[in-house]
Amino acid sequence: MKLLVCGGAGFIGSTFVGLRVREHGDEVTVLDALTYAGRQENLRDVESEIRFVHGQIEDPEVIAETLGSDPPDAIVNFAAETHVDRSIADPYAFSVTNALGTHVLLEAARQRALRYLQVSTDEVYGSIETGSFTESSPLAPSSPYSASKTGADLLVTSYFHTYGLPAMVCRGSNNYGPRQYPEKLIPLMILNALAGDHLPVYGDGRNVRNWLFVEDFGRGIGHVLAHGRPGEVYNCGGPDECENIEVVTRIIELAGADPSLIEYVTDRPGHDRRYSLSCEKLAGLGWRARTRFIDGLSQTVDWYRDNAWWWEPIRSGAYREYYERHYGRALGR
Ligand code: NAD
Ligand code: DAU
Repeated sequence: MKLLVCGGAGFIGSTFVGLRVREHGDEVTVLDALTYAGRQENLRDVESEIRFVHGQIEDPEVIAETLGSDPPDAIVNFAAETHVDRSIADPYAFSVTNALGTHVLLEAARQRALRYLQVSTDEVYGSIETGSFTESSPLAPSSPYSASKTGADLLVTSYFHTYGLPAMVCRGSNNYGPRQYPEKLIPLMILNALAGDHLPVYGDGRNVRNWLFVEDFGRGIGHVLAHGRPGEVYNCGGPDECENIEVVTRIIELAGADPSLIEYVTDRPGHDRRYSLSCEKLAGLGWRARTRFIDGLSQTVDWYRDNAWWWEPIRSGAYREYYERHYGRALGR
């Protein structure tokens, strides 16, 4: 296939691009704004095999130029502002990229009748105490991040209903694995544990997330692209759910750190208690997650331990300022 992958220099997008190039021989163009979370280094294993365009999805001219006169078979959109805490502190950029940017891509896809796949999140359903969300559960986002992703999903399905655009949505649960920016729970806790820093756990630490190894999500998205029906939404969740405190405790064990590093800090406003997805619809297309959390987590800790070249420049740059601003007071600095 010939693909335009937007946001392909980020954590999940770069994993997806690697899988498509290595396992499918796809011809891939990556379009990415290279925000704080996007890095060309994430694509270094495939850089000679892909085309890279630096640009923003909300810029219609860049999109038109990138698609050119020989458009791809499909657009897959990963590009987004993705961190819930940042969306609470500074929400506007989330609407621009996640909602408006998606709209610009949909319009470009409509003009050229391209297949379109939107990468979305379980957070659009909100929190669930027991049971699991199906694709027809009501949407009830809690944060500016999840609200902007919900807006994008609704635009995608509206383009199918209104214009017949062959568009689909794939909603993933919490991803983890190599190359995840260390603002997110798992890489943050791994790097802090390896460095002997505090491990800031929000609230009572008993919020539950459903963990999905990033390669499993990449393959799930590929499955939807190949076998999904236009206009449909597909959930893609991990095999194991876990309370945050259990995740942090396992990381401490794997990193050989001191449990007294755990520090309970003020809770995130509007913090969703539990996410859970029913993935029968995607299983019906032949997909299932292969990686158990215990194995994927151990692989992920090893990857961060062995790849300081990847995270050292992040930890010493703008991330430090973000970290001090976000956690400084909570950790009594
Ligand atoms: P990430 O933050 O690692 O990467 C986002 C990428 O988008 C970066 O490369 C960034 O440079 C790029 N980007 C941001 N704004 C852009 C813009 N305006 N134009 C072009 N590129 C832009 O995110 P991720 O964790 O890899 O998430 C990728 C997608 O998957 C997102 O849409 C996210 O909502 C979704 N998702 C993430 C998870 C998760 O657990 N991380 C789970 C389910 C769904
Ligand atoms: O569920 C899918 C979503 O997962 C994606 O759509 C988002 O892009 C992604 O960021 C992620 O959102 P979460 O808010 O669930 O992930 P985060 O890693 O920020 O937090 C996971 C849990 O850990 C959550 O309950 C909050 C808690 N947490 C997080 C951080 C950063 C802490 O207790 N301490 C922390 O320092």
